[in-house]
Amino acid sequence: MIAGDREELLRLFENLIENALKYGASGGRVIVSLTATPATDGTQEIRVMVRDFGPGIAPEHLPRLTERFYRVDVGDSRSQGGTGLGLSLVKHILNRHRGRLLIESVPKQGATFIACFPQAKPAPLI
Ligand SMILES: Nc1ncnc2c1ncn2[C@@H]1O[C@H](COP(=O)(O)OP(=O)(O)OP(=O)(O)O)[C@@H](O)[C@H]1O
Ligand SMILES: [Mg+2]
Repeated sequence: MIAGDREELLRLFENLIENALKYGASGGRVIVSLTATPATDGTQEIRVMVRDFGPGIAPEHLPRLTERFYRVDVGDSRSQGGTGLGLSLVKHILNRHRGRLLIESVPKQGATFIACFPQAKPAPLI
């Protein structure tokens, strides 16, 4: 279970899935999956992965993707109607949920965006 603001979490996943559909369209499919992985402190980390099989992103762009208004190919992104704010919002929402964003991409093979959250602690019984 992820503890957080429902509307913000919906907006986060909406942004990642919209990007995968928009920029990864040539790959023909998008995979969304959820896993729980052990974290270093013994708790579990919840990971929501959005993967596409489009053109991917060159490594030099990866560190800057979450900057406001940053777009890899301005002409192309503009024709796709983007403002370059989606991923900065994603990062902001993750920060507010004590989470982090991992981005992996092999150019020409696709891109994977992974939203990682600390597992919600069970509510105390009393
Ligand atoms: N799945 C993806 N595959 C390839 N490039 C991507 C992918 N997701 C994002 N990008 C690149 O990262 C840039 C920033 O993405 P971001 O979501 O912040 O902005 P946007 O999609 O252009 O606009 P907005 O989300 O505000 O409508 C995009 O313009 C695009 O160049
Ligand atoms: Mg976007």
